[in-house]
Amino acid sequence: MVEILGEERTKTNELLVIKHSETIAFSPAYTFFLRQVANLVDAGHGSPFTSWDDATTGIIWAELDQKIVAMFAYHTEQIRIHALNITLTSVEQEHRGKGIHTILNRYFEKTAKKLGCKFTVATVHPKNEVRLKSAEKDGLKIGYYKLYKRIDG
Ligand SMILES: CC(C)(COP(=O)(O)OP(=O)(O)OC[C@H]1O[C@@H](n2cnc3c(N)ncnc32)[C@H](O)[C@@H]1OP(=O)(O)O)[C@@H](O)C(=O)NCCC(=O)NCCS
Repeated sequence: MVEILGEERTKTNELLVIKHSETIAFSPAYTFFLRQVANLVDAGHGSPFTSWDDATTGIIWAELDQKIVAMFAYHTEQIRIHALNITLTSVEQEHRGKGIHTILNRYFEKTAKKLGCKFTVATVHPKNEVRLKSAEKDGLKIGYYKLYKRIDG
C-alpha cells in the first residue's frame, strides 16, 4: 500500500511529494530501485549480488512532477535488536546537491522511530566519498570496519 508522508521543497524550491511503501515488491518505486542498484554496481560502489529480500524491504521515495527522483530503501531484518538498516539510497544525477537525500533521511528516521528502532545502520563503500559525507551530515558515525580477504587465488 502506498502512503503519502508529506510534501517538501528542495533547496531550489521544487515541490517534492514523499511517499512510502512497507514492501518494495509491487511498489511503484521497484524498477527505480533496480536501476539505482545497477548504477551503484557499475560505479564500483556496490557488489553484484542480491542483498535485499522483497518481504523485508520497504521504501520511501520522492516524486517531482509525478516522476520518481530519489529513494531510500531499508530492510527490517534487525528490527528485533532495534536497528533499521539502509538497503540503498539514491538521488537521480540531475537532482543531486539539492538537499533531497537529507529530506528523505528525515522521513526514514521518523519511520524507524515509528517501528520502535533506536538505531539506523548504513553500509557504504570506502571510496563512496559523497555518501560518506552525506552520512556524516545525517549524524551517522563509523562503528565498525568490515574487512574482506579473497582466498580464491
Ligand atoms: C549520496 C547521494 C544519495 C546524496 O544525495 P543528495 O540529495 O545529493 O544529498 P544532499 O543534497 O541532501 O546533501 C547532503 C550532504 O551530502 C554531502 N554532499 C552532497 N553532495 C556532495 C558532493 N558532490 N561532494 C561532497 N559532499 C557532498 C554534503 O555534506 C551535503 O550536505 P550540505 O548540503 O550541507 O553540504 C547522491 O549523491 C547519490 O545518489 N549518489 C549515488 C548513489 C549512492 O552512492 N548511494 C549511496 C549508496 S551507499
